Amino acid sequence: MIETTSEQHIQALETLKAVGQEHILAGYDRLKPAEQESLLAEIASVDWAEVARLVKTHVESKPKFKLPENIEPAPWYPNVPSAELEQFYRTAFEAGCAMVRDGKVCAFTVAGGQGTRLGWDAPKGTFPATPIRKVPLFGCLAEYIRAIEMRFGVVIRWYIMTSPANDADTRAYFEDQNYFGLDPDQVMIFPQGMMPAIGMSTGKVLMASPSSVALSPNGHGGSLKALETSGALDDMARHGIEHISYTQIDNPIVRVIDPLFLGLHAISGSQMSSKMLPKAYPKEKLGNFCVVDGRVTIIEYSDLPDELAYETVESGDLRFRAGSIAIHTIRRDFVELLNRSAQGFALPYHRAEKKVPYLDLKSGKQVEPDKPNAVKLETFVFDALPLCSTSIVYETERIDEFAPIKNADTPAGEEPANDSPQTSRTIQSERAARWLSELGVQVPRQADGSIDATLEISQITAIYKEDLDGSKLPGRIEPGQEVLL
Ligand code: UTP
Repeated sequence: MIETTSEQHIQALETLKAVGQEHILAGYDRLKPAEQESLLAEIASVDWAEVARLVKTHVESKPKFKLPENIEPAPWYPNVPSAELEQFYRTAFEAGCAMVRDGKVCAFTVAGGQGTRLGWDAPKGTFPATPIRKVPLFGCLAEYIRAIEMRFGVVIRWYIMTSPANDADTRAYFEDQNYFGLDPDQVMIFPQGMMPAIGMSTGKVLMASPSSVALSPNGHGGSLKALETSGALDDMARHGIEHISYTQIDNPIVRVIDPLFLGLHAISGSQMSSKMLPKAYPKEKLGNFCVVDGRVTIIEYSDLPDELAYETVESGDLRFRAGSIAIHTIRRDFVELLNRSAQGFALPYHRAEKKVPYLDLKSGKQVEPDKPNAVKLETFVFDALPLCSTSIVYETERIDEFAPIKNADTPAGEEPANDSPQTSRTIQSERAARWLSELGVQVPRQADGSIDATLEISQITAIYKEDLDGSKLPGRIEPGQEVLL
């Protein structure tokens, strides 16, 4: 039966009254019909019983983090294998290559975030990331996928999660860029779920305008649900895909598909595997890979007490050394299991205190808060790790695959912000310099050791140093030169 708008209005009002959020419809009668319709659609897209529960547990009170008693550092496979692991790594690499060649692996990019820190109006994936060509983040990932396709003679399906806020712009961008040379049929773009922002002192959902609720994406953890609700899991099954290579949009040098990592994951029988970096310093803002009750678990940097964060082992290395960089390989059937089990599937929500602009319903004025005024509720993908019966961690190297763009650049002359476009370009240039130096090219350096040139190696040219043809490289690079390979 199709409901009329007025029936939907009555029903929405009842639902909202039951959870004390009826102010959302206070201005309903003054809205134009199209606005009424879109507000009712927004209301229908939210699970209000869940919001009511979360207001009690995450807004009216703050969930207390309890550090597990029996927490141990998680073991990992080292970046460079020891002598006794060498054969195992060779077998894993071959297994990973076969998985890619046989079409058992897809790429999955989460790009639903708001990118608030970067302050870029368009979807983050459209941000120009590389040092010379300024290839956008989506383009960097697409080039990597094309490089893998050429190497393995296979089509890699690419699933991209957006949010309702950036979905249309992302689709339009892919059209405009001709899908970066990929076939539109191999790319599936779908939005994640949203959650309302809630007034920190009132427990009331904030309005963005008279006809819209202040909604934001429900965290990257929402990806595991969105894979199911969008039909992506079914699409993967139809295409024979068994493993999902999960990466974020903000890292232009991420190995979107990494045969060795895939092989280690598969032959270990892991349901969800992770890459780690040794932390640069004890309180680096990376989640810590731990083991709790036999399960791999991430303890956030803010939750790891100092005595553990600074603890060292005999060699002087940090005991809790493995930091998470949000790169995972996930079995498709594990995501299906999570979504399709009889108990239902829900990752825990985390409370984040944020500045959220809103419409003050009393004065009718738009408010731009200067301090956090709202609670946003987000789920994190790594909360699925303790649900795995087997989960492995593999070490990678920072310069090889971690150049994230999170924060905006600082003004010229100031110290660059961490994880900014500038630091990302420097890492990309450094990686190129390392590969070139190892192949005998002279790379000029400043007195402080930084490279005195701008270097970019397209991923179509090389995704590993070994892909570069030494005979075609220049013998030396001149100071200040721009070199694009
Ligand atoms: P971040 O935690 O860095 O958040 O996301 P963000 O939204 O991009 O940036 P800020 O915090 O507003 O500045 C890490 C990755 O997870 C994705 C992002 O797009 C990015 O790839 N993400 C995050 C989602 O897909 N959905 C979300 O709800 C949150």
